[in-house]
Parts: sequence; C-alpha cells; structure tokens
Amino acid sequence: MKVTININGKDYSADVEPRMTLVDFIRDVAGLKGTHVGCETGHCGACSVLIDGRPVKSCLMLAVQANGKRITTIEGIGKDGGPNEVQMALSSSKALQCAFCSTGFVVVGTWALEENGELTEDVIKESFIGNVCRCTGYEPIIKALRGVRKND
Ligand code: FES
Ligand code: FES
Repeated sequence: MKVTININGKDYSADVEPRMTLVDFIRDVAGLKGTHVGCETGHCGACSVLIDGRPVKSCLMLAVQANGKRITTIEGIGKDGGPNEVQMALSSSKALQCAFCSTGFVVVGTWALEENGELTEDVIKESFIGNVCRCTGYEPIIKALRGVRKND
C-alpha cells in the first residue's frame, strides 16, 4: 500500500506491506534511527513519537494508519536549532546510563512540558507511566526533570 507520512516536516512516501509498523517505517524507510525498538508490545516507550503533538508508541501503530499524518521523532525535537529544556535537563544531570530509553523520555517529556508548562513530580510520574528505564531506577530522571519550566 502506498503511504506518505510527514516526519519532522519532510514527506516520506513508500509502497509498504500492510503489516509494517510505524516504527519500522520511521527507521527503515525514513532512515531515522533515533526512535528505538525495545519490547514491540507497547510496554517500554522506547519507540515514542509525537503525532499531531501527542505521544504515541510507534510499535503499536501501522504505517498505513499514519498515512497523511504529521509525526515528530527525536530528530525533530529541539529548540532554536539546539536542545530544548528537557534535553538540557537530562543531559546536564547525566540522568541516563545506557541511554536506550532516553529518546522516549525526551519525546514524552517534551509533550508533558508543552502541556503543563512545568514538570512537577506529579506531572513527571503521570506522564512517564508508559516509559521504562532498566538502568537508572528513575530517581535520577525525576530529579533532573523536576521543576523544569517552559521558556518561551
Ligand atoms: S518498542 Fe514500542 S513500547 Fe516498547
Ligand atoms: S538508561 Fe538504560 S534503559 Fe534507561
């Protein structure tokens, strides 16, 4: 089936198998490898992307379902050509180990900041309920992000 998906402002078109997942389209058709594949069952959040500004686990969606939609992946996240507030907070406090989960945390954290204006502990815990980190025990991530505010 022929699909066209706008990813980070650029249209990608391909003839794909109906069973191709969105994450495979992003990685293998668009060649954007920052969106990771962890569980492929919707549990880990490593494959998180934004669709029309809202977080979606791209392993749970088919590429054909995303036809015509606008998607933002980790490669499209940032501010003024540099890192945004969430990326700055996570990298400056080194709140990661293997970093496999980090792109998902940045994508979802960026959405949470946009929605709430500030990342309180409650907002962080609620927003990241679908993101798994096997290394950090979460405390360094919560500590890094707690109090981050949106700077316009
Ligand atoms: S790979 Fe999609 S939720 Fe784990
Ligand atoms: S830093 Fe390794 S899974 Fe999160």
